[in-house]
Amino acid sequence: LGKFSATLAELNTKEDTKSDDGSKGKEVDGIEDDGNAERAKAVNDPTSEDEYNSKSLHKLVADGGLGADINPVNLEGTLVEDEERETGRVKMEVWGIFFSACSGYSYWFAVLLLNSLAKVVTIVQDYWICIWVTANNIASPHVVLPDSTNTVSPAANTNIIGQHTVSFWIGIYLAIGVIEVFALFIKLAYAYSGLIKAARNVHAKLIRSVVHATPRFFDSSPFGRIINRFSRDMESIGTNTLDSLIWMFADFTSALGVIVIITAVMPPFIFVTVVITVAYVVIAKCYLDSTRELKRLESNASAPLLSLFGELIQGVSSIRAFGLKKYYIMEAINRSDELNRPFYLTMVSSCWMSIRLDAAGATVSFFCAFFILWNVCSFDASLAGFALVHALQFKDYMLFAIRNYGDNELNMNGVERVSQYLKLDQEASAQSTPENKPVSNWPRTGDLEVEDLVVEYVPNVPVLHSLSMSIKHGEKIGVVGCTGAGKSTLSLAFLRFIEAAKGRIMLDGVDISKIGLEDLRHNVTIIPQDPVLFNGTIRFNLDPFSEYPDEIVWDALHRAHLVREYGSQTASTAISVLEGNAIDSSLEHMSGIFTSLEAKIKENGQNLSLGQRQLVALARALVRRSRLIIMDEATASVDFDTDDRIQRTIRGSEFANSTLFCIAHRLRTIIDYDRVLVLDKGKVAEFDTPANLLNRQDGIFRSMCEKSGEFEYLADAAKRAQDPKQFS
Ligand SMILES: Nc1ncnc2c1ncn2[C@@H]1O[C@H](COP(=O)(O)OP(=O)(O)OP(=O)(O)O)[C@@H](O)[C@H]1O
Ligand SMILES: [Mg+2]
Repeated sequence: LGKFSATLAELNTKEDTKSDDGSKGKEVDGIEDDGNAERAKAVNDPTSEDEYNSKSLHKLVADGGLGADINPVNLEGTLVEDEERETGRVKMEVWGIFFSACSGYSYWFAVLLLNSLAKVVTIVQDYWICIWVTANNIASPHVVLPDSTNTVSPAANTNIIGQHTVSFWIGIYLAIGVIEVFALFIKLAYAYSGLIKAARNVHAKLIRSVVHATPRFFDSSPFGRIINRFSRDMESIGTNTLDSLIWMFADFTSALGVIVIITAVMPPFIFVTVVITVAYVVIAKCYLDSTRELKRLESNASAPLLSLFGELIQGVSSIRAFGLKKYYIMEAINRSDELNRPFYLTMVSSCWMSIRLDAAGATVSFFCAFFILWNVCSFDASLAGFALVHALQFKDYMLFAIRNYGDNELNMNGVERVSQYLKLDQEASAQSTPENKPVSNWPRTGDLEVEDLVVEYVPNVPVLHSLSMSIKHGEKIGVVGCTGAGKSTLSLAFLRFIEAAKGRIMLDGVDISKIGLEDLRHNVTIIPQDPVLFNGTIRFNLDPFSEYPDEIVWDALHRAHLVREYGSQTASTAISVLEGNAIDSSLEHMSGIFTSLEAKIKENGQNLSLGQRQLVALARALVRRSRLIIMDEATASVDFDTDDRIQRTIRGSEFANSTLFCIAHRLRTIIDYDRVLVLDKGKVAEFDTPANLLNRQDGIFRSMCEKSGEFEYLADAAKRAQDPKQFS
């Protein structure tokens, strides 16, 4: 395969040095024109993009942006991991996964048996013609060609062949044909039913594994890669694998049948068979060794293209704004080329194999005819015809058998890639063990103890360093700190989206790391920095499990200031039981689609503003009324007035029975909270009442307030909160 192998090796090297999201190759024109010279140089130079990222990282560390104790060597390239690509033959383990997914080995035994039976019936049908011709020859040995001057035997003029009439011979022939059709139908129906079941099983396992994967997996796997597993790989399992397996069995059985027939008719042919088989094995090996790798390259090359589509769709306005259209067009072309190159080479290698297999097949027919002619006097003509007809088919059977075997290995690549995802690190169990199950009404209080908590995304690179704090039930804690201080990380640790590397968190006396995730997450509510809304009704978004009546849902919308008044008759009766918040006419603009609980929210809340999305997430928290509520910049995108009203709602009766963690960059949001936690580079820098923190002359919080430009207001609000009586 000389040059071909060299091309393959080159492709391999490229693949190994290329990150999943960054393909390199062609020069990218026009980026300099857009004023992004450094970036353009990085893209054009196969090595400089890594250098570019690395330089930025080192610069960030040098500037102190990552904290002095963080080593850039630990961070480089650690987030998005390169996609795994197996090499060499498909492992037995992968075949095992697929075989056991189709109802186990008994199924395969039955498929092989049915396949052999169907083939035997086909051969019997051909053999019947052979018997028929022989009987005819015995009954009318002197039959000669019509243009001969000899007289025709009387038997040729009758309807009797051997002992039987022509209808008998045709009848049996048809009967065998009907049995053959039934045998084929049963074989295919049984085989397909098992394989469809296998595809379903594998898909169900894949979904389970991905849904329960740790958040780290989602951080380190680009979206395109995951989509690729569920689309392209599952398609190859669900459609191509089924076909190639079934037809591979059929073709191999047919080829074996031919060898058995020819060898039975002319035993010396067995020697030719051995030589031809060796030739086939060598050709097949060359073909499979190259196409297997090519197929893997092709599968891996589609993920970067899919990721790019995602980026393009989401970032189209930024791309246009930064004048990077040309760059993305070239990038798309490069990635398409990366995908098409192995596909083209697969086609070429298929032609290479066809030519050689045709030659080998012709050799089989040649030797078969040669043996017949060699023994022409002693050979029964009907048997010779029987053997020759099958010998001519041999090359087709082998060609398709090998091609299907190859396709099979290639399709197993889909199973292989999916099987990598079946072994993902999984989150802890959703259910608590009986001995660790918290009491039914846990948590009764929102008492919270954080002891020596260390949290890390990447092993040995802690983001939170030995955090300790004690929070009493019902306390409202404001959390502030610079970007990257670890505020969101702390909130994720409360829900065990990131497991503590050291230390523990106790909620109402229960170590949260000991209980099932479902028990924990059902009882703690988070309103994240970037709230996720689902494609569905408002009701579904607020109460996905339909646990609460409409009144509660309307009430939550009302309290989140999304509706001015209740939108349904039922709800209007509920208004009387609610402690009335003053209805403000300025909220009218907020109503929008919030006129019915059945109104549709589009995927990711595209039909809502970011502020409205945050308010829906807040309403979701209000519906659940958990003992521990975490708000991560939950009102950062709503206007001051609405934020102010929401804060009043929160501090009022609404969350009176809940411990509240509110992460905020707007200091006025948390200035009247019970205490403020200041995080600095993953450590507790200050933790006290806002008024006390403001009294610390060199304190971080005070300095933040001073820089905010509203120190007077904040100081006043903090004092009011500390001693409300004095100001009443
Ligand atoms: N998924 C992740 N994988 C790896 N590191 C992460 C991940 N998320 C955050 N980090 C790192 O953890 C540190 C703390 O991030 P975090 O999101 O907790 O900051 P934050 O205080 O919430 O910042 P902001 O105010 O901008 O929201 C940062 O250095 C960040 O780079
Ligand atoms: Mg954050």
